[in-house]
Amino acid sequence: MRAVWLREFGGPEVLRVEETPDPVPGEGQVVVETAAIGITYVETQVRSGSAPMPLPTLPVIQGNGVAGTVVAAGPGADAALVGRRVATTTGGSGGYVEKVAVDASTVIPIPDGLGFQDAVGLLNDGRTALGIATAVAPKPEEWVLIGAAGGGVGSLLVQVVKQAGARVVAAASSTAKLDLARDRGADVVVDYTQPDWKTRVWEATGGAGVDVACDSSGGPIGRGVFELVRPGGRFIAFGAGSGTMTRISEEEANAQGVAVVPLWEAFPSPAAMQEMSVRALAEGAAGRLRPAIGQTFPLERAADAHAAIGARKTLGKTLLIP
Ligand SMILES: NC(=O)c1ccc[n+]([C@@H]2O[C@H](COP(=O)([O-])OP(=O)(O)OC[C@H]3O[C@@H](n4cnc5c(N)ncnc54)[C@H](OP(=O)(O)O)[C@@H]3O)[C@@H](O)[C@H]2O)c1
Repeated sequence: MRAVWLREFGGPEVLRVEETPDPVPGEGQVVVETAAIGITYVETQVRSGSAPMPLPTLPVIQGNGVAGTVVAAGPGADAALVGRRVATTTGGSGGYVEKVAVDASTVIPIPDGLGFQDAVGLLNDGRTALGIATAVAPKPEEWVLIGAAGGGVGSLLVQVVKQAGARVVAAASSTAKLDLARDRGADVVVDYTQPDWKTRVWEATGGAGVDVACDSSGGPIGRGVFELVRPGGRFIAFGAGSGTMTRISEEEANAQGVAVVPLWEAFPSPAAMQEMSVRALAEGAAGRLRPAIGQTFPLERAADAHAAIGARKTLGKTLLIP
């Protein structure tokens, strides 16, 4: 089979497609033939060696979310799964492939009516959006500021927060991303690359600031997002788009009167995360969560996909198609 290998950290060009032996299902495993493969932003940071987290031992095949068809079951795995359409995480790596062996307990049957691409668009980003929303618990009429709102997670988070009855200020770096956020329900959109962006958020909230803010940019934008939270409000940081995560000290939080929601509240346990993925797919099948598959690339062009994400040119979710 073909697989995308990362043998050294560097620019997108270090991602190389190589012929690789097909996986053999071990005890309790099934093999999934992939139809759509998700790319998450952090994978581009890991590839470049700049991720704000421990880096994997090389060589590695990146990717942690696929949708496809079960083509084999190993000893102890339910043979009835063969032929089923499923979505599954792959244990943190190993997803940029034509076939992957995974623990049978991790596969989620894709509900009828949901395609492979939408299923993988919801699998990780949907659970993240549901987890973040659970952690910050938006209430009806509250103002919620969501950064990177035209991305994979962001465009889903807008929808989950709106369903809670809250009002959304979506922030992103381009008109196309803001149009997507608006299409997914945002009440107000703001380009946070513009110098007056914070003033526009103050104005939208009548000078009060937002009740809740969700930051995944870090850097100066993340700081700005935090500063826009009113006293008594909540703030969560769940990503480092700029390369650094927004860290708010206890003193800063107390001085502003803002509760910093810890990330573990969004992802309390592996079982809870699996349950949120199941829920995200069900919500997608019911038409209540609409992933935005902004662009797809053939598996061979994984490097181009990473380059587009790194250049901030993508909209919604980016997929590889084997
Ligand atoms: N995918 C998941 O399941 C998951 C899980 C946990 C945490 N996260 C975090 O959530 C965020 C979104 O993840 P995603 O996979 O859905 O990716 P994404 O939103 O599709 O893409 C990353 C976003 O980061 C922003 N960005 C890019 N370059 C930036 C820069 N130099 N400075 C500031 N912002 C920049 C871009 O938005 P703008 O161009 O509009 O700024 C872009 O939308 C990431 O920070 C990620 O680490 C994701």
